[in-house]
Amino acid sequence: MNRAVLLFYLLGYVQVLRAQEEDVVPVTDVPDVLVLVSHLCDFKKPLQDPTDVDGDQYCDCDVHNSATGLPEVQINCKKHQLGDDFWQGYEQLPQGTIRLDLSHNALAVVPHLNGETLRYLNLGHNQITTIPDKVFSNVSLLEELDVSSNRIEILSTDALVGLSSLKMIDLSGNRIGKIEVNAFSNALQLRHLSLSNNSLGTFFNRTEADLYLRLGVTNRLAILEMQRCNLTDINLSSGVGLERALLGYNRLQQLTKLPKQLAYLDLSGTPIRSLPAKFLPHLLHLESLILQDMPILYALEEYALYGLPRLSMLNLQGSRNLSTIHPHVFGQNVVRNETDTELKRLILKGTNLRTLNSSLQFAFENLRLLDIRGTPLRCDCQLRWLRELPNLMTLGVCVKPNALRDKRFGTVEPHQFQCRAEQFWIYTVFNILLAILLIVLISIGIFLIVRAIRPKPHVQLRTVGATSPYARVTIEPNRAELL
Ligand SMILES: *[C@@H]1O[C@H](CO)[C@@H](O)[C@H](O)[C@H]1NC(C)=O
Ligand SMILES: *[C@@H]1O[C@H](CO)[C@@H](O)[C@H](O)[C@H]1NC(C)=O
Ligand SMILES: *[C@@H]1O[C@H](CO)[C@@H](O)[C@H](O)[C@H]1NC(C)=O
Ligand SMILES: *[C@@H]1O[C@H](CO)[C@@H](O)[C@H](O)[C@H]1NC(C)=O
Ligand SMILES: *[C@@H]1O[C@H](CO)[C@@H](O)[C@H](O)[C@H]1NC(C)=O
Ligand SMILES: *[C@@H]1O[C@H](CO)[C@@H](O)[C@H](O)[C@H]1NC(C)=O
Ligand SMILES: *[C@@H]1O[C@H](CO)[C@@H](O)[C@H](O)[C@H]1NC(C)=O
Ligand SMILES: *[C@@H]1O[C@H](CO)[C@@H](O)[C@H](O)[C@H]1NC(C)=O
Repeated sequence: MNRAVLLFYLLGYVQVLRAQEEDVVPVTDVPDVLVLVSHLCDFKKPLQDPTDVDGDQYCDCDVHNSATGLPEVQINCKKHQLGDDFWQGYEQLPQGTIRLDLSHNALAVVPHLNGETLRYLNLGHNQITTIPDKVFSNVSLLEELDVSSNRIEILSTDALVGLSSLKMIDLSGNRIGKIEVNAFSNALQLRHLSLSNNSLGTFFNRTEADLYLRLGVTNRLAILEMQRCNLTDINLSSGVGLERALLGYNRLQQLTKLPKQLAYLDLSGTPIRSLPAKFLPHLLHLESLILQDMPILYALEEYALYGLPRLSMLNLQGSRNLSTIHPHVFGQNVVRNETDTELKRLILKGTNLRTLNSSLQFAFENLRLLDIRGTPLRCDCQLRWLRELPNLMTLGVCVKPNALRDKRFGTVEPHQFQCRAEQFWIYTVFNILLAILLIVLISIGIFLIVRAIRPKPHVQLRTVGATSPYARVTIEPNRAELL
C-alpha cells in the first residue's frame, strides 16, 4: 500500500470516528478535540516533504505494511520537548499504531492513551511521579512498557490494570520504595520485570522477602532484574519459571533457595567474602555465573561450584581481592576425572590470582577462552599445565618471573614455564645470608647447651648455726692420762 492510499485510509477512519462522535458527544460537553484526532503525526507532510524536519511540532511517524498486509504506524517522539500541556484529555492514537516512543521528554503525568493496537510504549526518562490507577486501560494490548528513569515512588495495586498482555515492564531507575500488594497480578503474561535502581531494601526485608508473594507476579516470570536495589535479602524460591536473575550491587550476603530452572545468575558487586561449599546448591541448569567487581571476595573454596553440571561461563572480572581458587572448587570427582565440567569461558581479568593449581586441569578440559588480563600471574612450572591445555585461547600476559614479564601468555612456550628462573641473584644472596644466620644461631645454641650441661665446681657456701652438725667443734686433748 503506498502512502497516498494509506493517508486516505487514515483520514477516512478519523472522519468516520468524528462523525460517530458528533452523534453521541454533544450532550456531554467534552470538546470534540479531546477525542480522535491525533496531533502526534502530520500525515500530510511526508507526502509533500519526505524528509523529517527536526523541531517541528510533530513526531516522526513511520508507516509500514505488516506481515498481515495491514499498515503499522510507529511513532517516535523521543526528545521532542513534550510537556504535560501537549495532551488535551486523552490521546487517540492513529489507527494501526503499534509503537510509541515518548522517552526523554518533560512529562510529569502519564498521558491517557487510546490505541487498541499499541504494543510498545516507552515513557522512559521523563519526570513522572505516579502511575495513576487504570491509566493504561485503553491500551490493553500493550506488550512492552518502559517507565524507567522517572520519579515514581509507589506502585499502586491498580496502576497496571488492564495490561493483561504485558510481557515486559521496565521500572528501573525510579524511586520506588513501596509496591502495593498484587500490583502485578493482572499481568498474567509477564515474563520480564526490571526493578533495578530502586530503593527496595526495606520493602523486601528479612521477614517479608518473598518476591512472588509480595508483588503477585506469576511464576511465568523468566527474567528478573533487581540490581542496585539495596537488598539485604530476597526469596525467589517460588519462581519455578525463573531463568535469569540479575541481583548485582545489592547488600546480599547469602542467598536463600534459588529456583532450579535458573540459567543465568548475576551477583556482581555483592559483599560476599568467600564462596563456601555448595554456595549454589543443585542449580542443574545454571550456565552463566557473573561475579564481577565483588569488593571483598577473596576465595572460592572447596566445592564452592559443586553441583553445577552445565556451568559454561564464569565471570570474576574486577574482583580485585580474589586470590584463591581452591583446587577442588568443582569437587573431588571432577579432580579424579570422574565427571566432566562444561566450563568454556573463564574471565579472571583484574583479579588478584597468582597461580592456579594443576588439579583444575580436569575442570578446564572444555575451556576455550581464559581472560587473565591484569592478573598478576606467575608463569612458572606450576602453571605449565595451563599453557599445555589444547584449544584454549588466553588473553593476557605473564607478570612474573621477570624473564617472561609482559610476554603474552599464549606465546610463551611450555618449556619456558620454569621454576628455577625465580632464583636470580638477590634470591641467592638472601638464601646465603639466611644460611649463615642459621649457622650462627645453631652455634650459639650448641654453645649454650654445652655450657648448661658441663659439671659445675662444688663451691657451697652455707651459713652455719650453733646447733648445726657442721658447727665448729673444739676437740679437747685427751685428759685420761692425767687422771
Ligand atoms: C478509556 O476510554 C474510555 C472511552 O472509550 C474513556 O471513558 C476512559 O476515560 C479512557 N480511559 C483512559 C485511562 O484513558
Ligand atoms: C543505575 O544506576 C547506575 C549508577 O547510578 C547507572 O550507571 C545505571 O545505568 C542505572 N541503571 C538503570 C537500569 O537505570
Ligand atoms: C518489613 O516490611 C513490612 C512491610 O513493608 C513491615 O510491616 C515490617 O515491619 C518490616 N519488618 C522489618 C523487620 O523491617
Ligand atoms: C540502604 O538501606 C539502609 C538500611 O537498610 C539505609 O541505611 C541506606 O541509606 C540505604 N541506602 C540507599 C542507597 O538507599
Ligand atoms: C521463601 O518463601 C517461601 C514461600 O513463601 C517460604 O516457604 C520459605 O520459607 C521462604 N524461605 C525463607 C528462607 O524465608
Ligand atoms: C580489598 O581490596 C581493596 C583494594 O583493592 C582493599 O582496600 C580492601 O581492604 C580489600 N578488602 C579486603 C577485605 O581485603
Ligand atoms: C578425563 O577423562 C576423559 C574421558 O572420560 C579423557 O578423555 C581425558 O583425557 C581425561 N583427562 C585427563 C586429564 O586425564
Ligand atoms: C594442588 O592441590 C593439591 C590438592 O589439594 C595439592 O596436593 C598440591 O600440593 C597443590 N599444588 C600446588 C602446587 O600447590
